[in-house]
Amino acid sequence: MIPIKNPKEAEKMRLACRVASDILDRVVAIIRPGITTKEVDEAAAEMMQEAGVKSAFLGYRIGHRVYPGNICISLNDEVIHGIASQRRIQYGDIVKLDIGVIREGWIGDTATTVPVGIIDERTERLLRVTERALERAIGMAHQGRRLGDISAEIEEEATRNQLNVVREFVGHGVGRKLHEEPQIPNYGKRGSGPRLKAGMTLAIEPMINLGTGAVRLLDDGWTACTADGMPSAHFEHTVLITNEEPEILTWRGKTQLK
Ligand code: MF3
Ligand code: CO
Ligand code: CO
Repeated sequence: MIPIKNPKEAEKMRLACRVASDILDRVVAIIRPGITTKEVDEAAAEMMQEAGVKSAFLGYRIGHRVYPGNICISLNDEVIHGIASQRRIQYGDIVKLDIGVIREGWIGDTATTVPVGIIDERTERLLRVTERALERAIGMAHQGRRLGDISAEIEEEATRNQLNVVREFVGHGVGRKLHEEPQIPNYGKRGSGPRLKAGMTLAIEPMINLGTGAVRLLDDGWTACTADGMPSAHFEHTVLITNEEPEILTWRGKTQLK
């Protein structure tokens, strides 16, 4: 069963998502060479406290593992679920920031990839393609279409550009829980899967790699890295299906890339 949010619940989601995207915007702004990922995580935690929300990730369990960070911060070949540390961000890195907040019991989930200064040309293209894949996927998020239309759009944008999607991790429904039904793979078949209905809130999150789509888990039990050490990009929005255009609840008023 895919949860449907009524108009009052959708408004709660709107507010949670706005806090998540505002905080993401402000965290993006403090990224610079020399800052440690721990400092970034702590700054995000302060912003959450100040906004009266809680991290949706801190203490989150997958199996018996408990996530220790306030946000996910993943560099370069790290795909997702990177944990803050004393590591310093360097010029030329790409930094994936993923932020989830709980506001009055409702969750917003959003992510972006930030280039630090001038980055390698192929990596820059990877970021552009991944962001475009998200935008095109959102373009499929219409009532009456099927979930597979979203998935296929992402996969096709990647393969058209000789890039590879990550298959081990998926987008998801989001609401009172961080991960609700349905799972939203970044690959799939058009016209397949459940029909999209107004009131669904979906976290759509393409993860696309320059090299192989395969990932491996670091010894910390959380950080997923590309198997070949090549860069990975990740963009995510929480989107409300409506009777009209999809509503991007975590919109930040601009595209992430200059
Ligand atoms: N933010 C991830 C997502 O987009 C989930 C993070 S789970 C955590 O679904 F435990 F790592 F925080
Ligand atoms: Co996320
Ligand atoms: Co998500």
